[in-house]
Amino acid sequence: MRIKAAVIGNPISHSLSPVIHNYFLNKNNIDGNYEAIRIEEHKFEESILKLVEENYKGFNITIPYKESIIKLCNNLSNTAKFIGAVNTVYVTEDKKLFGHNSDCDGFMNNLKKEIVSLDLNGKTAFVIGAGGASRAVIYSLIKEGVSQIKICNRSVDRVKKIIDDFKVISKANKCNIEYLDNKNFWINLKICDILINTTSLGMAEHKPLEFDLSKLKDDAIVCDIIYKPLETNLLIEAKKNGNKVVNGLGMLIEQALVGFEMWFKTKASYDKELYKILIDQYGRK
Ligand code: ATR
Repeated sequence: MRIKAAVIGNPISHSLSPVIHNYFLNKNNIDGNYEAIRIEEHKFEESILKLVEENYKGFNITIPYKESIIKLCNNLSNTAKFIGAVNTVYVTEDKKLFGHNSDCDGFMNNLKKEIVSLDLNGKTAFVIGAGGASRAVIYSLIKEGVSQIKICNRSVDRVKKIIDDFKVISKANKCNIEYLDNKNFWINLKICDILINTTSLGMAEHKPLEFDLSKLKDDAIVCDIIYKPLETNLLIEAKKNGNKVVNGLGMLIEQALVGFEMWFKTKASYDKELYKILIDQYGRK
């Protein structure tokens, strides 16, 4: 039987997920289908339940439903619980919904692929942002053994909430998480081993990110989870400084592959051809 999956959100036409999943379905000769489905807010619950009845094997969930899907899930992965958002749902044989968040593994799997000798054990990470993506990145950093995480964000409350929510796991993993205001964040970059922008600042048609890399060591890694443009100003400047840089496109693909494996029972890995196809889509989406 044809395996069906979908990405659900509103708006959804911009989503690159169908391109990614259908590429891997074709490449692996799998009889499956992955489509983008726009659901209106007032019909969210009934629409999800209808898709489950129609034997969908799972979904990606995107804006604005990553939190509202939680109450429809029968079980959540620990990762989804920590992050407080679900972007991947697996429908079990008895039609129960298992909610997971693949941004965490998506970020770290890609980082390991891009930086071959990566060793974050005992290192210091600087994170810009305190939204859902930031929580996923922070969870992955803690699991990877970083000993210090410094966060700056426009809304201080959200950083405080992260520190509170991650208190137990950060203590267990001997990781100290601290808020730094904007000024102190950039001044202290001399102790930073990895800098990650998790905000939408710097994305095409968004406000730019204001940054100052003058104190950054030249062996620090600089990541941006933005993939449009592929090279944000942050990455362009970091490259000029001699830093290794990682853009957001690999993370987008890696997070998709977590769901792909759950639904289509096939482990796929990405190649440069998909990269080219996705960049080509930028003009159209
Ligand atoms: P996501 O799930 O993609 O992380 P989000 O939870 O809305 O999305 O988080 C967006 C992040 O970008 C937050 O850190 C947000 O800062 P606030 O927590 O202060 O809202 C940041 N961000 C978005 N627009 C911003 C802006 N104009 N100036 C500063 N920060 C911004």
